[in-house]
Amino acid sequence: MKVIWNNKIVDHEEVVINPEDRGYQFGDGVYEVIRAYNHIYFCLDEHINRLYSSANKIELTIPYSKEEIKTLANQLLKESNISTGDLYLQITRGISSPRNHTYPDVAVLPSLTGKANEIIRNTEKLTNGIKTSIEEDIRWLRCDIKMISLLGNIMLKHEAHKKGAEEAILHREGIITEGSSSNVGIVKDGVIYTHPDSHFILPGITKLVLKRCAHALGIPMSEESFTLDDLKEADEVFCTSTTLEIMPVNQVDNWTYSVTDDSIVRRLQRAYEKEIE
Ligand code: PDD
Repeated sequence: MKVIWNNKIVDHEEVVINPEDRGYQFGDGVYEVIRAYNHIYFCLDEHINRLYSSANKIELTIPYSKEEIKTLANQLLKESNISTGDLYLQITRGISSPRNHTYPDVAVLPSLTGKANEIIRNTEKLTNGIKTSIEEDIRWLRCDIKMISLLGNIMLKHEAHKKGAEEAILHREGIITEGSSSNVGIVKDGVIYTHPDSHFILPGITKLVLKRCAHALGIPMSEESFTLDDLKEADEVFCTSTTLEIMPVNQVDNWTYSVTDDSIVRRLQRAYEKEIE
């Protein structure tokens, strides 16, 4: 199996992670998950731009150009012979030895790794929706950075899983922020609502595509935060992410929502499918 290791494609076995790599030791790094359909990445530029933007927010200088990273990503997809799948790409600040919280000298080379996997689209869930639970958003206040330190997110997802739910819908003092690994939206009286981009949420690329689809379909979309009560009273609920796409939610705790073929979420899903074709 081939992987990206700094500026090369190598065999998986050749990668050696130093125990003092800051990603391993501090979670000091950023990442992207990029979907591929029919051997081509979807929204590759947007993902690479966000990788640079996340890196910039933590003063991590990526020692490769965007073109170099895109070339590596494309080469890996080809060499892994992946048609429909995803690429996990991460860059850490490199090795600080001995362990030291302070950012190391800029001469320290960041560690870039990437692995691609074949993953089929979950058409059953995309049709019927998923169950979710409400959890309190206990994460920090820079959720706009796509960072590899995901302990808050995984603890919340685990709480959801313990309740038999697939995703956690998070709130801060009654305001819905996002999911533990997705953005969240509702439809009420024909209008789509999602939390505006801010330090409380990740600026999702699927959310951007959703906005484009909604615009093309003439469905009004308001990036305006909504409350737990709005969620309860919503006509439709959905999550968006690179892996979930536009995923209908059929249950939030004990509240249920119908997912029908003439729903707005279904119309958005059909428009999304045209984008990824
Ligand atoms: N997660 N919010 C959070 C907290 C996320 O982790 C993600 C994506 C999103 C949606 O972003 P996008 O539409 O750009 O994928 C929102 C990825 C898929 C993951 O960590 O696996």
